[in-house]
Order: sequence, then structure tokens, then C-alpha cells
Amino acid sequence: MTAAVLEGRDLARFYEVKRGVFKPHATVRALNGVSFSLQSGRTLAVVGESGCGKSTLARLVTMIEDPSAGELLIDGKPARRGDRSLRSQVQIVFQNPYGSLNPRQKVGSILEEPLKINTDLDSAARRKQAEEMMARVGLRPEHYDRYPHMFSGGQRQRIAIARALMLRPKVLVLDEPVSALDLSIQAQVLNLLMDLQKEMNLAYMFISHGLSVVHHIADEIMVMYLGRPVETGTAAEVFGNPKHPYTAALLSATPIADPDREKNRIRLQGELPSPLKPPSGCHFNPRCWKAQDHCRKVSPELSGEGTHQYACHFPLEGNEV
Ligand SMILES: Nc1ncnc2c1ncn2[C@@H]1O[C@H](COP(=O)(O)OP(=O)(O)OP(=O)(O)O)[C@@H](O)[C@H]1O
Ligand SMILES: [Mg+2]
Repeated sequence: MTAAVLEGRDLARFYEVKRGVFKPHATVRALNGVSFSLQSGRTLAVVGESGCGKSTLARLVTMIEDPSAGELLIDGKPARRGDRSLRSQVQIVFQNPYGSLNPRQKVGSILEEPLKINTDLDSAARRKQAEEMMARVGLRPEHYDRYPHMFSGGQRQRIAIARALMLRPKVLVLDEPVSALDLSIQAQVLNLLMDLQKEMNLAYMFISHGLSVVHHIADEIMVMYLGRPVETGTAAEVFGNPKHPYTAALLSATPIADPDREKNRIRLQGELPSPLKPPSGCHFNPRCWKAQDHCRKVSPELSGEGTHQYACHFPLEGNEV
């Protein structure tokens, strides 16, 4: 296997938060013990409910923040905030194409800005590269002189993708890149991303609330719960043979799941607990229908066979759900 272009080793990110004037600070464990390895041309989907730490992970791998513990490797080299040569290798596309583009900048200038800051190219060369990238993402030449507000959400996301690719990164972090778009537009943008991945041999970290969006695009999947991975594996393993009850619950909320599942639809009880006060033992236990005393006491480690790993004391058997 070739070297990973992006690798996380036991990454953690803690935040100190104030709880009130007279109360001591508390620690939010936004991310705790996340390891993964991503190869060129492959897609790792990171999936979980709101607050499970997806965007925190995105900020670490794009070197916007340093981890509190653990190590990030980009192209095999240890990466730290401020390392500009490595930083350009990992670019990000955000969820909201309305907030992520400067409304006062024309498309051409949005696309050329990364080149202006990071390269010595003159303005003619910058323009040429911007125009080439516009064509690649399906924007027309006349769009060069237009402002973001003149575009639809889908087109704006094409602009954001083009901007992220201007420095020829090896990795794109896609933080819910289609969830703000209409369903029909989502498929177009996903297809574009898959085409670009093939053409440019890009590695994707694709962040999503649910599993349905990542069904076609993911090679590997990491399911997260309260800052921790609860199940990781190839897409075939996670979709075909989910082992963690939380994964099964996410899958059963997924429209693409086979119709037979509908009759056994799992409805998760209760809300996601606060990461300020995670439940003892397995964090998922208060919402889990399989939980026993042991689960309330002992936090399960990831274990399993080969690429398929899950953190559960009582993993699901073959046709249990
Ligand atoms: N700067 C910060 N200070 C304090 N707490 C933070 C900070 N950033 C994130 N958190 C907390 O860390 C946890 C994970 O947040 P994060 O934004 O990574 O979740 P997420 O999975 O991206 O959620 P969403 O799906 O809503 O985008 C949350 O409980 C959040 O409140
Ligand atoms: Mg987020």
C-alpha cells in the first residue's frame, strides 16, 4: 500500500469553557482518540450527529488548529499550524456556499487570491489558471467577472470547490458540502466531486451528518459519537455489516437502506448528551437498546478484524437488525 497522504494518530482536541462567573472552567472533549489513514484518490467519510466533533476534526487536518494530543501527518510529514508548505496541501470546502465567499469579490479574484498569496505567478498566468479551473468545475468563461450573489447555491459551491483546488492540494476536506443544496443539485455536485477526484487523484475527507449522502462517494467510513470513532471500515463493511448499534441506527434512518429494514426501523431514544458531561462507560449507553451494566462502567475500545473496527461490548450479529 502506498503512503498515506493524510494520517491522524490518536488525535484529540479539548476546549476549556467558562460555565459561569463562580464556576470552575470545564473541559469539552470535542475530539478524543481519532486515528485514520487516507490514500490519494480515496474518500474517507466522517459521519455522525451534530456536535460529535466533525468540524473540529476538519480544523485539525486543515491545520487551522493544532491537536491537544496526538499527531497529524500530511504526506508522511508531521504537520503543525503555521507550516505553510504543508498547509496548502489540504484545502477545505464549507457547508454554506452563501457565507464562505466574499460578496465583494468577483469570481476571478476569488479564484486567483490563493495564487496571489502563495505563488509568484503574474496576473496573466493567474488568470489563465483561474479560467482553466472554472471550465473544470463547470463554470462558464463569462462568470469570471460576476459576483457570488449572482449565482445559485450549486454554482457557488462549484466556485468554492474551484477555489479550494487552485493550489493543487492533495487533500480536500469537504465539510457537509452538499447539505445546504436542493436534492437535485446535490447529485450534480457529488458527481462533479467524483470526476475531479479521478482527474486529479485527490483524497477526500467527506464530512456528513448521515450515511445516505456518502453512500456513493465513500471508500472508507468512520462513524463518530461524542468525539470518538465508534465504527470504522470500508464502505462495504459498514453498510453491509454494521456492528455498532449507533451505526445501525444511522443506517436505519437512511433512505437508501433496503425496504426490509423499514419494519425494524431503529428509533434512537433521547438526545445526544453534552460532551461536557459524557455518560460514563460507553458514551452511547443511555441511548442503546443493547446496553447492560458493563456498558455503563467500562468504555469499549475499538477492536475487530482487519479494517473493520468497532467500539462496542455487544456488537451486532449478522441479521440482528
Ligand atoms: N472553540 C470551541 N470552544 C468550545 N467548545 C467547542 C469549540 N468548538 C467546538 N466545540 C464543541 O465541541 C463539540 C464538537 O463540535 P463540532 O463543531 O466539531 O461538531 P460537528 O460534528 O461539526 O457538529 P455539526 O454537525 O453541528 O457541525 C461540540 O460540543 C462543540 O460545542
Ligand atoms: Mg460541523
